[in-house]
Amino acid sequence: MSHVSSSLGRRLISLALPVAFMSLAGCQDSAPASQTGGQGELSPVDELLLASVKVALPPPGVTPADLPDPGSQGARLVTTHCIACHSLPSPASHSATDWPRYARRMWLRLDRLQDSLNLTVPSTAERQVMLEYLIENSLQVASALPSGPGRDFFRTTCTSCHDLPDPKVHSAEDWVAVVRRMMDHMQEIQGRSLTPEQFSRIVLYLETASGA
Ligand code: HEC
Ligand code: HEC
Repeated sequence: MSHVSSSLGRRLISLALPVAFMSLAGCQDSAPASQTGGQGELSPVDELLLASVKVALPPPGVTPADLPDPGSQGARLVTTHCIACHSLPSPASHSATDWPRYARRMWLRLDRLQDSLNLTVPSTAERQVMLEYLIENSLQVASALPSGPGRDFFRTTCTSCHDLPDPKVHSAEDWVAVVRRMMDHMQEIQGRSLTPEQFSRIVLYLETASGA
C-alpha cells in the first residue's frame, strides 16, 4: 500500500472498501475509516467527502447513442470505461484545453482503485484513443465575443462548469433549447438555476452573437 501516499487516496479507498464489503458479506467493523459509525454508517468526515465528490459529477442523461460517432473506437472505449463510477460524460462538456486535466484525474482513480474494486483498467493506448476522441468532439470555445447587452452576464454564467462556449455553434432558434438544457444541469449540479429574466438576457445575447 505504500504507493497510496496521499490521505485523499487512502480515504477514498477506505471509504469504498467497507461499503462494498458490508453490503456483500454483512461483515462488521472491518472499516478503518468508519470509527464513529455503526454497521453501514459513515463517519461525518466520510459523509462530507462523499457528498462533496457527488456534487462535481457529470450530469445524467447522456446515452451511448447520443455520443458523436457512436460506432468509433473512441466512443466505445468511453462507453466502457467512463460509466463505472458516474453517468456517461459528454465530450462536449469540456473544451479541448480542459480535457487532458480531467482525464488525468480519472487515470489516477483508475490506477489507484483497480485492485480493490474490480475496475477494468484501460491500457495506455486506449487512454490515448479516449483522450483524442474527447478532444476531437469537445466544446467549441469562443475566441472573441461580439459586444452587446448581456455579454458579461453570459460570460460569468456560462463558464462555471466549462470554458466559454462559442455563440456561433448554434443558430438563434437552437440556443433556446440548449440554454434550457444548461438550466437543468445547473439545477442538478449547482442546486440553482436562472430566473426567467436571466434566461432571456442570455438567450437574447446569444441570438445576437450567433450571427444566424
Ligand atoms: C473510478 C471511478 C471513475 C471513473 C472510472 C471515471 N470517473 Fe470521472 N469522476 C470520478 C469522480 C469521483 C469524479 C468527481 C471528482 C472530480 O471531478 O475529480 C469524477 C468527475 C468527472 C468529471 C467532472 C465533471 C465535470 O464535467 O465537471 C468528468 C468530466 C469526468 N469525471 C469524466 C470521466 C471520463 C471521460 C471517464 C472515462 C475516461 C471517467 N470520468 C471515468 C470518478 C470516475
Ligand atoms: C452546471 C454546469 C453547466 C453550466 C453552468 C453550463 N453548462 Fe453548458 N454544458 C454542461 C454539460 C454537462 C454539457 C455536456 C452535456 C450537454 O450537452 O448537455 C454542456 C455542454 C454545452 C455545450 C455543447 C453542447 C451543445 O449542445 O452544443 C454548449 C454549447 C453549452 N454547454 C453552452 C452553455 C451555455 C450557453 C451556458 C450558460 C447559459 C452553459 N453552457 C452553462 C454543463 C453546464
